[in-house]
Amino acid sequence: MLLAKIVAGTVASAAGAAFGYTQEKAKADEALPPPKYPWSHRYPWQGYDHASIRRGYKVYSQVCSACHSLDLIAYRNLVGTCYTEEEAKELAAERDFVDGPDEQGEMFERPGKLTDHMPRPYANENAARFANNRALPPDLSLMVKAREHHEDYVFALLLGYKEPPAGVVVREGLYYNPYFPGAKIAMPMALSDGQLEFEDGTYGSISQMAKDVSTFLAWTSEPFQDTLRKMGIKSVFLLLVMSSTTFYYKRKVWSTVKTRVVQFTKDHIPINYVGELNRPPKV
Ligand code: HEC
Repeated sequence: MLLAKIVAGTVASAAGAAFGYTQEKAKADEALPPPKYPWSHRYPWQGYDHASIRRGYKVYSQVCSACHSLDLIAYRNLVGTCYTEEEAKELAAERDFVDGPDEQGEMFERPGKLTDHMPRPYANENAARFANNRALPPDLSLMVKAREHHEDYVFALLLGYKEPPAGVVVREGLYYNPYFPGAKIAMPMALSDGQLEFEDGTYGSISQMAKDVSTFLAWTSEPFQDTLRKMGIKSVFLLLVMSSTTFYYKRKVWSTVKTRVVQFTKDHIPINYVGELNRPPKV
């Protein structure tokens, strides 16, 4: 009986894996799927909302960067995206970075430059886990790409904190969030109403900040998307023009061949397709 169960289990999991249903997918299925939101960059012909990226950077740097790193983004990436060069230089110079060694072999601290990457909140993984109840806040650079439902997921997750339903026990240090696989997340609700003030006068409501930081994280995971999409649109347009002229030219070149009629004759009398002689009609 036990053997039959083991065999059935193995066969089922092998079949599951064969159809791409992995354990990770099964885990993701335990979570509530987030709604689809109308992001400004949802379709291939649309671009990011750059004002939103700018506000999103502020949310990241003031709130999320207390626990999450953003290793793949340097200050220079902000230039031309949501800040001018001077502004980005000022932002970088606000933080100190360890550089060196100098002539005496000593490491030293200096203000940040455009080429510096975003500073990490913790020195190493152990320090990060120690500060967060043993949970590790993941790097956010590619988070939007790494999770199913992408920015919809991040947005829903940030807003998804709820009282646990009756019968669900959430242990100390975890929070109930139905969008997170397993519904119990070690990250506390990070946003609160009116927490930040934006330079453009936008009110920092929870959903506004969640939207902006999700747009920002979508940008960090694909910073060149706008350029690529613009190039894509140009190439499709060019291909359309080229292929229609090529099609026309092909018709022109082949027209002499395609409209030719080949006739076989016997004694100068044409033969029709069944092979009979096409005699001139009797009069
Ligand atoms: C107090 C520290 C803290 C702050 C502040 C914080 N987080 Fe987290 N975050 C965590 C921890 C810890 C985890 C790991 C949760 C887990 O594995 O249960 C996490 C996980 C995540 C995840 C990954 C969830 C997954 O599917 O694995 C995302 C996305 C995320 N945080 C986004 C944010 C954003 C955006 C902000 C800023 C608005 C933010 N966090 C602020 C601690 C924090």
